[in-house]
Amino acid sequence: MNEEKEEKINKSFEYETTNLIRSNFNENKNLNELENTASKPSNQLSNGLLGWYSVSGSDSIKQGKPYFFTLYNEPLVLYRDREDIVRCVKDVCPHRGASFLGGEVINGQLVCPYHGARFSSQGNCTNLDRITCEHIIDSNYDNYAKSIKLLQYPCIEKEGYIYIYYTGTPLANIEDFQIKSSLNSLLPDSYGFPSLEYEYEEVYVDFKADWARIIENHLDILHVFWMHGDTIPDKNVNRNTITSFNQKIKRDNRQLESIYSYKTNGQEEFIRIKFVPPGRIFIYKGSPESTRYIQVLDHIPLGNNKARVIVRHYRKFLKNKLFTSLVLFSHLQRKTFYKIFSEDYLVLKTQTFNEQMGYIQKDNVKLLGEDKMVQYYWDWLQNALNKEKPWDLHPTNSLTNSVHDDRGMLYPPENPNMAIKNNRIILIKLLLRLLFPISLILILI
Ligand code: FES
Ligand SMILES: [Fe+2]
Repeated sequence: MNEEKEEKINKSFEYETTNLIRSNFNENKNLNELENTASKPSNQLSNGLLGWYSVSGSDSIKQGKPYFFTLYNEPLVLYRDREDIVRCVKDVCPHRGASFLGGEVINGQLVCPYHGARFSSQGNCTNLDRITCEHIIDSNYDNYAKSIKLLQYPCIEKEGYIYIYYTGTPLANIEDFQIKSSLNSLLPDSYGFPSLEYEYEEVYVDFKADWARIIENHLDILHVFWMHGDTIPDKNVNRNTITSFNQKIKRDNRQLESIYSYKTNGQEEFIRIKFVPPGRIFIYKGSPESTRYIQVLDHIPLGNNKARVIVRHYRKFLKNKLFTSLVLFSHLQRKTFYKIFSEDYLVLKTQTFNEQMGYIQKDNVKLLGEDKMVQYYWDWLQNALNKEKPWDLHPTNSLTNSVHDDRGMLYPPENPNMAIKNNRIILIKLLLRLLFPISLILILI
């Protein structure tokens, strides 16, 4: 397929998606309702488990370098094509089924490590004469080789995130996808957050734990005081100050949100937590337009008992780059993030085990008043699981070759190397910063 046609397809895909987003948004925007009810809700969220996922930050997808991950056990690869457009393809070479692990991206074309087949961004093999010895190129082979195609998912890069439209069934022609859910419902802008005005820090964290349990953890307000009280630098967040909250719960077909305010303390707001299916959470304080700080958490279901979270902290303060680099802001932030997630990890792993053993189920444990968001989340999850069954699309069992598991857990807390390296950098930079005044004093005396 020539470049011009390819560009047209990209444009039309983007156009259709945008139109769909627009029409869904118009339909939905009048449906917001405020409520504060103790009754068990019916499920009102329209997005299910299949649809748009934020799977990576833009910076992780570099020209010339494939990025591997899995989604619901399915191995996938992201890479940038010649036009710098991010593509998401199934990590299976259509020639003889090798993975692209160990392969390359050359001039924006994905290259298989096994026999060197190269693929254009439309998924066509572009070097038919080079993937095999000349003596077996006959007309039959030629026809066959021309018909092999990569399988892809729709992919959009927006505001520093890579989103893919996940159905569990990648297609050879990306224009054949029927986009049924709106990307708009995931975007900060559509909730009134002016995200581009913010600076942010970002970390990736990997857990060998149930994806849904991790989301549940991030919707759980009370554990923050108990488990993270010594790590979060806020004297009001501490196990000694643990308190009950009033909640204003907002549910419409795009989101589930709770505004927590102190029961005592003149109804002062503590925090807001917004869940947007299937895996995005916003945490902030005050109105979206004026908030000084937004945490965006994206939960990626890599596979059974395996999940990745992208945590982005946007801020309106501490924007001076020189100052933040002098005080080692991003390294220290990263250290705090890693510590918080390590604190949660043992709980998440043991809950996952207890669930696997049948000791607990998601909806049969006792709930506190503040667990209402958790209950609402489970209602959505059960409903979505009953309808879509994404875990049945690429099932694994104990005999499944663990190659993608073995290569997959890249980040802390499961892989602590990055946290160790971060601590080492903090130490070295601190020493270097101290070295200058010390040598100055030594010279003077
Ligand atoms: S398996 Fe990929 S080129 Fe042969
Ligand atoms: Fe936590």
